[in-house]
Amino acid sequence: MRGSIAKRLALMFAMAVLLITAVSAVLLRCSLQQSLETQMHNELVLRHSVLDPLLSKYESPAVWVGVHQKLDSLTPTDERVRYWVLSDDSNYSYGGAMPDGQDRSRQPDGFSIMEVPEQHCPMVLLTKTIPAMGSRPELRFIVALDSTPFMATLSTFTETLVLTSALGVVLVALLGYWIARFGLGPVQRLSRQANSLPPGDSKQRLDTSALPHELLELAVSFNGALARQETAWCQLEGFNANVAHELRTPLTNLIGQTQVALAHERDLNELQDLLQSNLEELERMGNIVNDMLFLAGAESGQRATELSDVSLYEEASKTVEYLEPVLLDKQLTVVIEGDMRVRIDRRLFHRSLANLLQNAARYAAPDSTITVSLVSNGLQAEVSVSNAGEPIDSVHLEHLFERFYRADAARARSDAHHGLGLSIVRAVASMHGGRVFARSEAGLNTFGFSLTSESLG
Ligand SMILES: Nc1ncnc2c1ncn2[C@@H]1O[C@H](COP(=O)(O)OP(=O)(O)OP(=O)(O)O)[C@@H](O)[C@H]1O
Ligand SMILES: [Mg+2]
Repeated sequence: MRGSIAKRLALMFAMAVLLITAVSAVLLRCSLQQSLETQMHNELVLRHSVLDPLLSKYESPAVWVGVHQKLDSLTPTDERVRYWVLSDDSNYSYGGAMPDGQDRSRQPDGFSIMEVPEQHCPMVLLTKTIPAMGSRPELRFIVALDSTPFMATLSTFTETLVLTSALGVVLVALLGYWIARFGLGPVQRLSRQANSLPPGDSKQRLDTSALPHELLELAVSFNGALARQETAWCQLEGFNANVAHELRTPLTNLIGQTQVALAHERDLNELQDLLQSNLEELERMGNIVNDMLFLAGAESGQRATELSDVSLYEEASKTVEYLEPVLLDKQLTVVIEGDMRVRIDRRLFHRSLANLLQNAARYAAPDSTITVSLVSNGLQAEVSVSNAGEPIDSVHLEHLFERFYRADAARARSDAHHGLGLSIVRAVASMHGGRVFARSEAGLNTFGFSLTSESLG
């Protein structure tokens, strides 16, 4: 189910308020309960302190009748306060039997609680021993206070607290929802802005100037995604133009040659030559299309599957041997340095290294040496080809692996080279989980690729 941020925030606010009010309600109730208890104890102590001297002073049973009357007069009709005098001598006893039936004469002095059967709340007692005097035996004087009014105060307070807390939680939830919706206004504005971006204009971006910083990151990422889309779109457009351009030259040649041939009557040899030339153009077009399909496969994430355990030195030697005629043309020497065993697709490796060697042979100074280095770099194997030649401008270096990119503008589109060799090297590297690199320093131009641990044996 799709959630709502405003609802979630409102719920969180409500939970936070519920937690806070619950904790403070418990604390407040405890504190009130404690102060009510203190109040009851104080009242008991006060009543005790008033009557204690009276009870202690008199000893004869005749005078004690007056004490009993005094206690009667002090006992309210609702029996909220009650008095007991416990004694072995019935002349001194007062108040009758204790309602809970316990023998209170045995219990220690101090405060205690007494459950009264017909009463909802207990009575709080203060018991004190009055020592014997003259003919009067030792007495136990008990003052009891009904806790019902105190408990009623406590429960009214608790009910009010629960009610106000519940009301507070509901109000905070509603207010929280409204505040969250109000606070999320910039999100809605941002979404409206994103919706109103015109189609077909890849240059448009979200305006981040007035955004709160919580949304800035999101908008910047969104703009980043738009910028990447724009780059991809431009690349696609450029790529389409490049493919059309590369295919146009051989097609124009084919059409032109065929038209010329058809303009006059031709003998068999001339027609054979024409077909031979047309075949070459068709093969060039076929190669471009095949290379494009290969690159499209690699770009869609295809990995090298026909892996075999090989020695890179041996495989590189085979590629060099295959290219010997090209190398001999310019009196070039190839040196292979290093070796390691890896698990790779040897067909792809040959194709990639051959592309690098063909470039090196084309751009190397005559009579120079081309070096093929096979270096193990941690979990990666690095294959690079260096040749002595003109320095390459750093502006070109980072683009040379792009499709149809040629640093030499004068040569571009004028010869059999389409600018796909290095992009195929990059595709082979990515199919082996590796990457490509190019350097031009100290008169040496180096192009290479790596193979990651996945393909290492
Ligand atoms: N060893 C090198 N020295 C100098 N420049 C190089 C070297 N290798 C490549 N380049 C530059 O990089 C460009 C791209 O090379 P890439 O192999 O992709 O295309 P290409 O060789 O022009 O054509 P293709 O390989 O399709 O026949 C070349 O046109 C050239 O300008
Ligand atoms: Mg090339």
